[in-house]
Amino acid sequence: MAEIIDGKAIAQKVKTEAAQEAEALRQQGVEPTIAVVLVGDNQASKVYIRNKMLACEQTGIRSLKYELPQSASQQELLELINILAGKKDVHGILVQLPLPQQIDEQAVLRSIPPQKDVDGFHPQNVGCLLTGGHPLTPCTPAGILRLLEETGVNPAGKHCVVLGRSNIVGKPVSILMLEKDATVTICHSKTKNLASMTRQADILIAAVGKPKFVTADMVKEGAVVIDVGMNRDENNKLCGDVDFARVQEKCSVITPVPGGVGPMTVAMLMKNTITAAKMQVKHRE
Ligand code: GUN
Repeated sequence: MAEIIDGKAIAQKVKTEAAQEAEALRQQGVEPTIAVVLVGDNQASKVYIRNKMLACEQTGIRSLKYELPQSASQQELLELINILAGKKDVHGILVQLPLPQQIDEQAVLRSIPPQKDVDGFHPQNVGCLLTGGHPLTPCTPAGILRLLEETGVNPAGKHCVVLGRSNIVGKPVSILMLEKDATVTICHSKTKNLASMTRQADILIAAVGKPKFVTADMVKEGAVVIDVGMNRDENNKLCGDVDFARVQEKCSVITPVPGGVGPMTVAMLMKNTITAAKMQVKHRE
């Protein structure tokens, strides 16, 4: 049976670190603040935003919520971001994705000042991710790296297979694993002989968004399995991209859903908000 990583406990540790840093900033007269923007009525987005704002409360970070209707124009959203960008007392700006189809996601992400981009999605921060020295790293990938570190899994020399090539998870986590000296293979919906690829993985990161997509026959004995999925199964129960019950019998370490990667995403957002606030305070000195 595999070791089940307690993402909630590790996230709590990260949030405690962030809370201490938030307190230190407050001692200097700076109230770390994030502005969270929700456009439309995506139910999952509403839950994610609620969790993020709750974590802010626990960590001592001020959070401001801005809501625009589903019908909002790109111009309206850009105007709001422009106002938030100009506010000295707002250190982080997060626009929850996905956005309604009339809005160009990349144009919106480019409009967030890179130093306030707590999601790490601005092209400048993505560039920093590739070349090194990236203070604002995308939250889910950063959370995955921290989970591995806390579990004592060293990626150096390991074969890491990433399932999924999204800008939010697949691509950035691949770069971070490469930075940690893993040999990285990125697989996606057009990959041929997928199972023969995943069976080579010492570390398998599943971020495809399909319930229980990774079955036991796709996993090498003793592998480390990280499940980024957040899906509903046939009984409407939360489940990941991995068939947890079967795969845990074969692998050595696995993250559960819920309680694995999810809480880490939120915890790393707290860290990024503190980092952003510190950078802005330093810049002004
Ligand atoms: N939608 C799904 N994941 C994320 C995330 O990490 N940040 C934002 N802004 N939107 C998301």
